[in-house]
Amino acid sequence: MHHTPHVRELTDDDATAAWHLGRTAFGSDPQPPPPPTTTPGTTRYGAFDHTGRLIGKAVDLHHDQWWDGHTVAAADIASVAVTPEARGRGVARALLTTLLRGAHDRGAAISALFPTVAAPYRACGWETAGTLRTVDLPTALLTRHQPSPHLTVRPGTPADLTAVDELHTHTTRHRRGLLARTGPLHEHHRARHTTGNTLPYDGLTLVEHHGHLIGYAGWNRRDGYGDQGTLTIEDLTATTADAARELVGILASWHSVAPTLRLTLLPGDPLTPHLPVEKAREHAQDTWMHRPVDVTRAIRDRGWPAHLHGTTTFTLDDPLADWNTGTWHLEITNGNADLRRTTAPADLHLTVRGFALLYTGTATARTIAQAGLLHHPAGTDPAPLDLLAAGGPAQLGDYF
Ligand SMILES: CC(C)(COP(=O)(O)OP(=O)(O)OC[C@H]1O[C@@H](n2cnc3c(N)ncnc32)[C@H](O)[C@@H]1OP(=O)(O)O)[C@@H](O)C(=O)NCCC(=O)NCCS
Repeated sequence: MHHTPHVRELTDDDATAAWHLGRTAFGSDPQPPPPPTTTPGTTRYGAFDHTGRLIGKAVDLHHDQWWDGHTVAAADIASVAVTPEARGRGVARALLTTLLRGAHDRGAAISALFPTVAAPYRACGWETAGTLRTVDLPTALLTRHQPSPHLTVRPGTPADLTAVDELHTHTTRHRRGLLARTGPLHEHHRARHTTGNTLPYDGLTLVEHHGHLIGYAGWNRRDGYGDQGTLTIEDLTATTADAARELVGILASWHSVAPTLRLTLLPGDPLTPHLPVEKAREHAQDTWMHRPVDVTRAIRDRGWPAHLHGTTTFTLDDPLADWNTGTWHLEITNGNADLRRTTAPADLHLTVRGFALLYTGTATARTIAQAGLLHHPAGTDPAPLDLLAAGGPAQLGDYF
């Protein structure tokens, strides 16, 4: 017989037990637990058995994601773990149910996570929507480039991190799903470096034009200078083709000591058209999943392409977040969208996982119907629901 776990926010008193649960689940090196600290912009949940023992945990990261020029409040999820003896008894489901309600209460609209196993999250309404690819490129194949006389290249310092974040914002705000560098959690991580006068990586290369930052690469250097030598790009962007070429030229100059350049590749990144992507070898693939926390906010708070106009009516079934369940009328016009409850009949019956696939531009209404995530009477055309997918595919560029 097993009892329904009690789920509540973790306190500093639970920190050691939560740290041990995470360490054993994810196999990190044994080391003394860090002193309890509260991280701004996070809500930590714990599940307890009837004796008061911690048997599971999950963390809600208060991120913002860029969606077509607007930030959308996200409850991104990390560090989900259940003690081995309590697995398969609904502990993760109880944690995720409470986390979703808490995220809804604090104003979150959407949620993303990187699963080690998709099934428990599917059972709770998330669906796989994309993959973050980290690839290895032979550094020697990058185009060598003569330094441009009109550009200045210099090493960055912690004092440059604000300008780095501003440039990152400039290049990500009109895309979809990418994490915004705003909010208490981001500021907490940045403050550790600005007050400690350290960079978050080994080196930062800046490209400037008349004193304005137009491109940068933050990198880590590992594994010696032989065949294994690697330069890993942790953060990178460019706002002009000149800046991208200049960065590629500098990265190419590492070829004698770092034969491998490791970086995440996202379609649409400014450097991708300047890289020998056909020679990329997979280093890691991290699939991510998505889910609405609150469908009205998810629709209203993001931007939509200005050319988009249309309406559609559908029912949505969300067993874990009943505030999303019902019949909805969607209207998109002039870059704005509105979702309202309606009493009008609807032939299109959408599951919450189907909603996630449309919202992230991952699939069309017809394909989610074929996957069993949208139901409609024979002869009904599901295509009007493609309005929800019309923003185009979402991406995640940061692992969490
Ligand atoms: C993955 C993990 C968190 C799941 O926790 P849990 O308490 O066992 O999950 P639940 O019992 O609440 O299961 C919820 C649903 O997911 C399914 N599920 C759970 N674990 C599963 C697995 N490994 N494979 C397939 N389905 C699984 C259950 O069948 C259930 O589905 P249902 O509600 O349709 O019956 C737990 O196994 C764990 O801690 N694993 C090691 C650490 C880890 O992988 N964490 C995830 C990081 S993203």
